Amino acid sequence: TQQQIKVVPVAGRIGAEIQGVQLSGELDSAVLNEIKEALQEHKVVFFKGQKHLDDASQEAFSTLLGELYAHPTVPVRDHTSSILELDSHSGTRANQWHTDVTFVPEVPKYSILRGVTIPSVGGDTVWANTNTAYEDLPEGLKKLADELWGIHSNEFDYAKLTISQATDEEAEEKYRKSFASTVFNTKHPVVHIHAESGKKHLLLGNFTRKLVGYSSSESESLISIYQSYVTRLENTVRWQWTEGDVAIWDNLATQHYAIADYEERRIVRRVTVGKNVPKNQHN
Ligand code: SIN
Repeated sequence: TQQQIKVVPVAGRIGAEIQGVQLSGELDSAVLNEIKEALQEHKVVFFKGQKHLDDASQEAFSTLLGELYAHPTVPVRDHTSSILELDSHSGTRANQWHTDVTFVPEVPKYSILRGVTIPSVGGDTVWANTNTAYEDLPEGLKKLADELWGIHSNEFDYAKLTISQATDEEAEEKYRKSFASTVFNTKHPVVHIHAESGKKHLLLGNFTRKLVGYSSSESESLISIYQSYVTRLENTVRWQWTEGDVAIWDNLATQHYAIADYEERRIVRRVTVGKNVPKNQHN
């Protein structure tokens, strides 16, 4: 039967819910194209009621969007080729603004996140549109950003984290160690031109340690100015999860932040697909 698809925007500048789709590895190409178009327009799309998905079918569906991309340092979940589990009990909360896996040269194109165990209160995720953030900049700041390069690293400064409610400290320590088991430092343009839309996007977030040619403190000040445009509320959308929801985002058009305001356990599973080397006019 032909599915009736509806794309319903959730906020003005980013985010839409797609209704009338049951995600699977057998999705027909017309539906898939509508999802890709919605992703290009809205940057992050949400699907409710996908409880039928398990690890295998999440991967099977994700393959339709691109080649599965296993995390460069954290071992994937058993019996899967790419699933990264984020379990609040082991401290693996992503409550920092970031774009996924920017510390290596080839950055994943899409992330597909499935809500497995969701607290009854809290645990929303917020996404930000990094194109409208760039467009909001005054001309002078745009010109400067166009010439800047950031060094992205997975050597994360845990001292900066203020909230960790991990119940299993050993598991948390293990995750931290595996996350930085190989340290990467990668140079990316601060403004990249999106491979599909051709639009300029800020590429910053928590893995950005420094700007090339600036001291650490200068870098910090400049980054915080640019980052404040990413996180201004007009450029964001917030999703309140229910178990079985799926969010898919254009990783190179967004940053996201998982709000750590909950007590109960939260487990989400993420697949990343596709590879893109972020480019500006110089590389
Ligand atoms: C992530 O950073 O990919 C996970 C976001 C979340 O836990 O909501």
